[in-house]
Amino acid sequence: MKYIIYTKYNNYIFKSVLIFHTTVAENKCELTHKGGITRFPDGFAFGVGTSAYQIEGGWNADDKAPSAWDNYTHRHREAFLDWSTGDNAAESYYRFEQDLEALKKLKVNFYRFSISWTRVLPQLTTEFKNAKGIAYYNKVIDQLLANNITPLVTMFHFDMPDELYKYNAFLNSSIIDYFVMYADFLYATFGDRVKLWITHNEPLQFCTKGYVEANFPPLVHSPGVGHYICMDNMLRSHARAYRRYKEKYFSKQKGKVGITFDVRFFFKKYRETPDEAVERALQYELGWLAEPIYGKTGNYPSIMKSDIDNNSWKEGLSGSRLPIINNEWSQIIKGSADFMGLNYYQSAYVDMATNRPHEVPSIEYDSKIIFSRDEYWRRAKSGFLYCVPEGLENLLKWVRDRYDNVEVIITENGWSDDGQLDDSGRIDYLKAHLQAVLNAINDGCNVTHYTYWSFLDNFEWIMGYTEKFGLFYVNMSSVNKERVIKDSAKYYTKVIKNRRIVASNGGQQYCSNFVSVLLSVFVILNFYL
Ligand code: NOJ
Repeated sequence: MKYIIYTKYNNYIFKSVLIFHTTVAENKCELTHKGGITRFPDGFAFGVGTSAYQIEGGWNADDKAPSAWDNYTHRHREAFLDWSTGDNAAESYYRFEQDLEALKKLKVNFYRFSISWTRVLPQLTTEFKNAKGIAYYNKVIDQLLANNITPLVTMFHFDMPDELYKYNAFLNSSIIDYFVMYADFLYATFGDRVKLWITHNEPLQFCTKGYVEANFPPLVHSPGVGHYICMDNMLRSHARAYRRYKEKYFSKQKGKVGITFDVRFFFKKYRETPDEAVERALQYELGWLAEPIYGKTGNYPSIMKSDIDNNSWKEGLSGSRLPIINNEWSQIIKGSADFMGLNYYQSAYVDMATNRPHEVPSIEYDSKIIFSRDEYWRRAKSGFLYCVPEGLENLLKWVRDRYDNVEVIITENGWSDDGQLDDSGRIDYLKAHLQAVLNAINDGCNVTHYTYWSFLDNFEWIMGYTEKFGLFYVNMSSVNKERVIKDSAKYYTKVIKNRRIVASNGGQQYCSNFVSVLLSVFVILNFYL
């Protein structure tokens, strides 16, 4: 809101402009401070994230074997909005020095990146270890540490080895042994320096896109069955990889191992929508794997078990479509994480489905939930992405209450646009979500890290290069693929330096309203005296 006030003093006319920061009801992308500290606590860490296939390029360099994404992009160019591939992407495999310069400029405390399984173990198993691929990650880790940037490493970020097709990938429980072998190799090779590990990135996205929507490898359509088996194998492979670390490496390496979930928060669509709808949606999305790992039972959410068991009986099946977790597995799974990684981008409205227009079997049919969006939420370039910072705050409080205030690392949060350097939309989003984190901290939530996604513009899966999430623009058409700083990167650096949410123009956010009020008092006094 802007007021212009003219005052007269000794025949001079003074013009005062008052700007109040107000909350607009529509299309807003902001959140207010709700009291408490305005400075992020000491030890709270700020970082940025990427993943191997999205930035590295060098798809067949130095003995790397193809991942399922290499073959998918090569064989199905038509599946990608701009017919592109990640063959070259930002060429980080060849240009880590440029990445490091940009990371240093940002002043981040940590960098989240992922390791490409087929670059280090091209034959899937440890029989052949690819020295050049390993050398690349050693270089990345060493140079980060030399510059005081902590590596946060994801083991598996969607880029499944193509070789796994032969074994039916995540539909076959042999994936558990393969994954544990890979994790063991990573701990043994890099664990002397990497102290923060994420086993899987976004199991729900991976299994939904790979086993329901069939637009991610392995391109299978198996709703309500393969979908659930994939999630189950993700869960067990995570838990066994965690146990391997604790049994064999923890006493020496003293690191932490967690898993990253993609998650939304949910609001009731109508006043009469039952509260149960919100709880169900949270259980089906986050609770699905969070409940077995962080909950009390070491098992799937009871609501999912009863829905899916009952439906399976009705469908005439002799057992449940939801795999059974027996006591032995419960012991392995329960407590198998040192922190919870959360990727938060957006929220949704929920209501209970009154009829069932859905495919049977499917998660929509089992969960009885209908999702929708608010037309007033501000939308990013990506169709799925809306600015709802209060959703992040609520989510963090829900996790605090439900899972004994487990340590939370926000492993992704970000905004997409066309790639412009004056990216004020990204600044609004970043600022509002940092405020959500600070509000949650002020409410006792144990959030310790915030990762902006993404460090660089990169290959956004089936959207190719049409949606940009980066703090740095990558000039794809130039020989050197320069990393060009965007306004949002400068803004984030100011936040990191100040450890406070600063106004977009660089001032302290909490000062700007204060100054407006002081100024208005001055002008009003001036007027009446
Ligand atoms: C989450 C995924 O982990 C990441 O790979 C992707 O680029 C972002 N979402 C944005 O869609």
